[in-house]
Amino acid sequence: MKNILITGGAGFIGCHVVKLFVKNHPDYKIINLDKLTYAGNLENLKEIEGYSNYEFIKGDICDIDLVKDIFEKYSIDSVIHLAAESHVDRSITNPFEFAQTNIIGTLTLLNQAKISWQDNPKDKLFYHISTDEVYGSLGDSGLFTETTHYDPKSPYSAAKASSDHFVRAYHNTFNIPVVITNCSNNYGPNQFPEKLIPLFINNIQQKKPLPVYGKGENIRDWLYVEDHAKAIDVVFHKGKVGETYNIGGFNEWKNIDLIKVICKVMDKKLCREKGESEKLITYVKDRAGHDMRYAIDATKISKELGWKPSLQFEEGIEKTIDWYLENTEWLKNIISGDYQEYYNKQYNLR
Ligand code: NAD
Ligand code: TYD
Repeated sequence: MKNILITGGAGFIGCHVVKLFVKNHPDYKIINLDKLTYAGNLENLKEIEGYSNYEFIKGDICDIDLVKDIFEKYSIDSVIHLAAESHVDRSITNPFEFAQTNIIGTLTLLNQAKISWQDNPKDKLFYHISTDEVYGSLGDSGLFTETTHYDPKSPYSAAKASSDHFVRAYHNTFNIPVVITNCSNNYGPNQFPEKLIPLFINNIQQKKPLPVYGKGENIRDWLYVEDHAKAIDVVFHKGKVGETYNIGGFNEWKNIDLIKVICKVMDKKLCREKGESEKLITYVKDRAGHDMRYAIDATKISKELGWKPSLQFEEGIEKTIDWYLENTEWLKNIISGDYQEYYNKQYNLR
């Protein structure tokens, strides 16, 4: 029996983690704390709403009193912390919000864990979900390992890096049992259409321009979101306290090549003429401080904990596109409202 507080469980990765834990571990009680920002969506969790081992609480991880009440009321013994502001472009326009949620929010949770667990840290765990972006940007070669020096370059990654440091500091100073994972770019169902893959799927469907930053030569390492959720399950149960594990897809793509694959699959699925979607590609001004390349060496988690990605990219991208084409209502609900305002400001494209 465990009482697990999952934060950010209504977001993209969080909803897959919550669903996996609620369904696969009926003996665990899962408390999902989420503020429901623009990125949080309870639609993502419909299928587990009725489960007796699941409870949702709408609230802010920066709210000290609320976090205290939750720890006490539910005798929280584990935290899986995903709540964050997560989009680099938004961090460029509003860095303060990123510092508040990603740093102060993490500190609020850590400090409550310290208060609640310090006298009896046995069988407790604070699991912090982080990103490969804390390591900065790679050149043509090399991979990020767990010992790569931190070198964050965007307000988003700077805030995530800072939160990672606080987690390690609480382990070192107060003996709080922690584990951290740093994962590469995720893709799959339920991702908010501000990130590259769902944004482009949506724009292709609507025959809107596909805004490629710079020359489209930046490289990312993509992992299917359910494989990340499985890795989180493995690290939660088998990870060594105080350790860091990198999680990645062994799957690097130059943006423009990835975009062409999406265009090709979409042409086929939508019965459009070959090459029709590629015509929508529009090169736009580059992102400020755009990191060139991310790539993860996931050898440690694979060797020590036996985790490997299960899906090949071709299969993952088909599954993702199918999901978006089958869930038009989900997409429609999101892109009405504030999304349009964000989109017009960010891209200034029709
Ligand atoms: P997301 O933006 O889709 O979801 C974030 C969730 O956190 C939302 O449900 C939102 O409502 C909630 N939230 C935001 N501020 C909050 C607050 N103050 N209090 C409570 N809840 C709040 O993000 P995601 O892509 O699912 O990322 C989840 C985590 O994984 C983040 O910590 C991110 O840094 C990390 N990560 C993401 C990726 C990726 O490719 N998406 C890769 C590696 C690591
Ligand atoms: P994104 O999904 O925002 O993830 P991250 O910046 O955290 O890696 O972007 C992935 C890549 O796609 C990144 O190199 C930026 C690029 N990109 C575009 O070219 N156009 C876009 O409209 C977006 C959102 C991203």
